[in-house]
Amino acid sequence: MPLLEKFRENWVRPALFFGNNPLSLAGGAITSASGATMIGYWLLELFARPNANPYLGIIFFLILPALFILGLALIPVGVYRRRRKLMKAGEIPAEFPKIDLNDRVFRHGLDIVFIATIVNLLVVATASYRGASYMDSPQFCGQSCHVMHPEYTAYQISAHSHVPCVECHIGSGASSYFEAKINGTRQLIEVSFHPVAHLSRKFIPDYPRPIPSPVTSLRPARYICESCHTPTRFDGDKLLVISEFADDEGNTETQTVVALHLGGVNALSQYVGIHGMHLGHIEYIAADSTRTTIPWVQRTNPDGSQSTYAASALKGAMPKGERRVMDCIDCHNRAAHTFVTAEEAINQAMTAGSISPDLPWVHKEGLVLLKASYASQEEASEKIPAGLEAFYRATNPAVLAGKAALVRTAGAELVTLYSQNVFPYMNVTWGTHPNNIGHMNYPGCFRCHDGDHVTKDGASITQDCSACHNLLAVEEAKPKVLGDLGIQ
Ligand code: HEC
Ligand code: HEC
Ligand code: HEC
Ligand code: HEC
Ligand code: HEC
Repeated sequence: MPLLEKFRENWVRPALFFGNNPLSLAGGAITSASGATMIGYWLLELFARPNANPYLGIIFFLILPALFILGLALIPVGVYRRRRKLMKAGEIPAEFPKIDLNDRVFRHGLDIVFIATIVNLLVVATASYRGASYMDSPQFCGQSCHVMHPEYTAYQISAHSHVPCVECHIGSGASSYFEAKINGTRQLIEVSFHPVAHLSRKFIPDYPRPIPSPVTSLRPARYICESCHTPTRFDGDKLLVISEFADDEGNTETQTVVALHLGGVNALSQYVGIHGMHLGHIEYIAADSTRTTIPWVQRTNPDGSQSTYAASALKGAMPKGERRVMDCIDCHNRAAHTFVTAEEAINQAMTAGSISPDLPWVHKEGLVLLKASYASQEEASEKIPAGLEAFYRATNPAVLAGKAALVRTAGAELVTLYSQNVFPYMNVTWGTHPNNIGHMNYPGCFRCHDGDHVTKDGASITQDCSACHNLLAVEEAKPKVLGDLGIQ
């Protein structure tokens, strides 16, 4: 028997015979319908501007492909059930209804099945590829679920707003890809069951609010940050100018000017400054899960010797806790998600002029409004502007009459500052996610550089102000140095 005929006798004819059942037919219908919809959407996307709504993405890249595959799977299930039923009843025909290839209608039918199969394969391949790349997009990570709202908001206004989340959060290679997807599935379950999770704390997992930091699954910085930034680059000094406004009627402005010794690897191949001095191998043990208390630090010096610094409270004992090799993220922990303090927020906005320093008392009153407690961002966006207007109406109606536009702009800017930093639903408020880059608002550098970490010979991790920076001016009105530099 020729191969083609054998195939027809033993496979095609029985398949057509058994496939004639409601389940298989429904499967075929679901598959064709979802396939046609997806093709239609992709064509639309080719010619029209794609819709940025992430929920649409969930439908077209996740739900429809799932339906498509479900339909495909239903077909053999139907075939199997019909065959078993007929076999039990002894009704399987000795010979399946004949297929006549000379029959033109039947031949065309076969052609259609053949073409449809190829199209189906193409659809599945494209769908799964597009689904995967959709799930890798910042829209999916940040917008599909409001749990990520704080991080996504901060990300969008960061220097890394064009670096996809997965560049930092998911490793390359199959294992970290699957690890991330499994993590994602767990999170999806937690988020889906959140409304009922409190009823059965033990059995259904709920997601933590706020999402805890640090992210222990993050890969070492040499795989993330160093794929774009060269750690040995020499940056010299960096000038930092920080403006602050006082809580008086005139919002008196002062400036702090700091020359940070950023350093790196200099022309003589020496490791110098803030970046250079931590490039060697530094290990530390953190006594708490937020890596705030660091009682033990060990540096492997360029000559291979080791210096071990211990907090005096340890009295020579080894502390328990996470042991970690220090890298970029120990200082730049908020690289893509910086939340500022209310003071920093309002000072930056007043420096930029989006909250006008010409409004009397606006620094003091703005801070009061920012730090008040609101049930939601929606409530804050009503109460903050209303509160500012009420303040001027009660204390200084002339301002409302003369500078109404400035008051309105200031109110709107305060709402923006609030909604970039406070997310009541996720229990994220001012100070929830500390920034380790300095030492003024959070322990930061002083977790180690507190003068209390000493070696056996009495050397300490320095707290000398000039090791890290020159303080060119501290809270001065119109500092001379800025005038000399021509940047005032
Ligand atoms: C430039 C690298 C980078 C990018 C891009 C990035 N992140 Fe992060 N992310 C980090 C680092 C670093 C941390 C803090 C890790 C730590 O403290 O251990 C973090 C922490 C988080 C956390 C934990 C909660 C928190 O606030 O600390 C979440 C959730 C998160 N990121 C989500 C996202 C999402 C969603 C995106 C994309 C919209 C994204 N990240 C893009 C580097 C990045
Ligand atoms: C995909 C490339 C990429 C990766 C990965 C990346 N960065 Fe960046 N980073 C950039 C670019 C580009 C800029 C400059 C953006 C600009 O100036 O607008 C930048 C800027 C910065 C800045 C200056 C930010 C500022 O506010 O001025 C810091 C600090 C920084 N990155 C640290 C990190 C750290 C830490 C990591 C790892 C967690 C990291 N970066 C990962 C590309 C990257
Ligand atoms: C010991 C803490 C520390 C470590 C570790 C560290 N940095 Fe920094 N980095 C700083 C400080 C402090 C600044 C200046 C911050 C500022 O501008 O306010 C800075 C600035 C930067 C800048 C901006 C430079 C500029 O010219 O504005 C980049 C980019 C950067 N770091 C990348 C990295 C990368 C990549 C790593 C890891 C290889 C790293 N840093 C490790 C403390 C650190
Ligand atoms: C995990 C602990 C740790 C943290 C956090 C840390 N450092 Fe260090 N730092 C060290 C150690 C250890 C040394 C080496 C001490 C030595 O050899 O004198 C060092 C050395 C330095 C030096 C060189 C000092 C000198 O005597 O020349 C500078 C500058 C510096 N750090 C800046 C910073 C800054 C800025 C930050 C915060 C953004 C920071 N460090 C955070 C552990 C730390
Ligand atoms: C281990 C390094 C280190 C040491 C030691 C250190 N600083 Fe700093 N300091 C920093 C860094 C890093 C910043 C910049 C933070 C940022 O980027 O916002 C800073 C910023 C500042 C600022 C400006 C910040 C602001 O918001 O106004 C002042 C003021 C300051 N330091 C004072 C001091 C004084 C005083 C000492 C000595 C007792 C000291 N620092 C010791 C690392 C250090």
